[in-house]
Amino acid sequence: MSAQADTTNKVTVKTLHKKKRAGEKIVCLTAYDASFARVLNQAGVDVVLVGDSLGMVIQGHETTTPVTMDDTVYHCRNVARGVSRALLVADMPFLSYTSVDIALENAGRLMKQSSAQMVKLEGGADQADIVTALTQQGIPVCAHLGLQPQRVHKIGGYRVQGREADAAEAMIEEAKIIEKAGADMMVLECVPPDLAEKIARALSIPVIGIGASPACDGQILVLYDILGISMGRVPRFSNNFLQKAGSIEGAVKAYAKAVRDGSFPGKEHVFS
Ligand code: KIV
Repeated sequence: MSAQADTTNKVTVKTLHKKKRAGEKIVCLTAYDASFARVLNQAGVDVVLVGDSLGMVIQGHETTTPVTMDDTVYHCRNVARGVSRALLVADMPFLSYTSVDIALENAGRLMKQSSAQMVKLEGGADQADIVTALTQQGIPVCAHLGLQPQRVHKIGGYRVQGREADAAEAMIEEAKIIEKAGADMMVLECVPPDLAEKIARALSIPVIGIGASPACDGQILVLYDILGISMGRVPRFSNNFLQKAGSIEGAVKAYAKAVRDGSFPGKEHVFS
């Protein structure tokens, strides 16, 4: 089954920046195959991310670290066949951007072989050179600050980041550095709501929250979490939208509506 060729109102980097300026929330979700991607695209999701969360929800691993470039290229290529309107973003897997040259080669694969329209990579100021090199070659970059799941073994678990005043200040500075380096968007994961709001206000690029704050410019969740079919413990910041909606399409639409009207995330989904 192929995607409907409805490219009216195609979401681009420009659209996302315009939405931020207009105070319109950006709806993002993950997908890993063409059929789900098509549902998201038709439900009006703005950004579809081929997340390395595929390591958990598709492959059944405990973490994202086993995901390879070949895995991501394969899933992104499939998702691309289901997406016409939404912006297609692909995660750079663990250790796929350890130098500028390696990052350029791998991001290039995602753009050329899988039709990705933006790549996402984890890290702060330490990734600034890579962000600049990619954007200078015309590859839009989404940064990822706060909890960085690819570093889970280093940080010792999935923990809220930026609770202490000095860590919060450092994160604000890192966010500014990454924006200056050329990032077009930023995901903020598991960050206290007041810090997430400060970062969203400090940057002119869209800041997308996950376990962060309703004041972010948009929200992202793992598709399988909103459908209640994820393996293992469902994170507190997620919500099962399928239960009430009764259909997959209904769940995606309910999530999109809740993000746009500001009712998601609620207090129970953030870490004060
Ligand atoms: O891998 C992923 O799915 C992600 C998001 C949920 C932000 O990085």
